[in-house]
Amino acid sequence: MLNSKIVGLGHYVPERVVTNEELSGMMDTNNEWIIERTGIEQRRFIDPAKDTVANMAAKATHMALERANLNVSDIDFIVFATITPDYFFPGSGVLLQRELGLESIGALDIRNACSGFIYALSTADAFIKTGMYKTILVIGAEIQSTALDLTTRGRNTAVIFGDGAGAAILQASDHKGVLSTHLHSDGRFAEELYVKDPGSSRPHAERQPEQILDTSSFKVHMNGSMVFKHAVVRFSEVIMEALEANKLQKDEIDLLIPHQANLRISQFIQKKFELPDDKVYNNIMRYGNTTAGSIPIAMSEAFGEGKIKSGDLICLAAFGSGFTWASALIRWS
Ligand SMILES: CC(C)(COP(=O)(O)OP(=O)(O)OC[C@H]1O[C@@H](n2cnc3c(N)ncnc32)[C@H](O)[C@@H]1OP(=O)(O)O)[C@@H](O)C(=O)NCCC(=O)NCCS
Repeated sequence: MLNSKIVGLGHYVPERVVTNEELSGMMDTNNEWIIERTGIEQRRFIDPAKDTVANMAAKATHMALERANLNVSDIDFIVFATITPDYFFPGSGVLLQRELGLESIGALDIRNACSGFIYALSTADAFIKTGMYKTILVIGAEIQSTALDLTTRGRNTAVIFGDGAGAAILQASDHKGVLSTHLHSDGRFAEELYVKDPGSSRPHAERQPEQILDTSSFKVHMNGSMVFKHAVVRFSEVIMEALEANKLQKDEIDLLIPHQANLRISQFIQKKFELPDDKVYNNIMRYGNTTAGSIPIAMSEAFGEGKIKSGDLICLAAFGSGFTWASALIRWS
């Protein structure tokens, strides 16, 4: 059986920094509330004249390729995780393929929200293990800012989300880098965190934007406390599942990179698994929740800061809309 390993990581975040103070000028919120409940100090919002999901992903890709010492032409497949594609269709994978100047390689979109990157990594790992592809570009990228309700009505979600992109190059290898991935979902909770429109199941007459524009159904809806309660349980379960599948103990984890949903969720997991501060990577303070982008951005930053070393056991874990949740264990080389 073939194995896969990550040979390059990259990320890109838009230039515009949006502080809690700036949001406080748009809605009834304040810096203290946001920091106390979420840990977020600032996030990045795109410049619509400049940034797209695909071109942010391309910038992250170039950084990952450079670190891997590879060329664009080495990529033979793209798996692109996003729930905020530039178009309703086609997906962002093909737009990135075009942006990179790659001719005719396959591109697949994954729509699993905050768990999207781990689903994408798992898909790429499986493709490599079958021998179908050798070098796969795995992306998590998101533009959330343009779907947020930046008024007091939307304050429970507007303060949480941000924009950004991360990239990982996964390659066939003798070394077993990706040890295992574990994917789950429970669609009974689909409407607890969702954007309803443009939903295709509406009757034709209702699906015209002017009929539904003022209903806020194009904005993110979230039952925050329900998400929180499920997240802490599922994060713990799926990390345990990964450790048990590999007969490893929690103290063997060198770095846990949780999806950056909320600093309080990360801290809860850290406490539960009795991990010291230097074994959990958080950057939600700087970027907020960038959904599928959050894990690859965090991995890329952790790598750049020298926090991922050869031989390290890296644990990725995520929970989000769907509900979906997932984990991956990686032995770095
Ligand atoms: C969203 C979240 C931070 C809200 O925190 P909370 O402690 O559950 O707060 P509540 O929603 O109960 O609201 C508490 C109060 O703060 C208010 N509030 C909500 N958003 C606010 C904001 N941005 N600023 C100020 N006050 C706010 C509420 O209106 C409520 O006021 P009330 O008590 O007068 O009704 C929290 O539920 C959470 O982090 N959930 C998980 C979200 C998540 O991780 N999502 C991504 C998943 S991938």
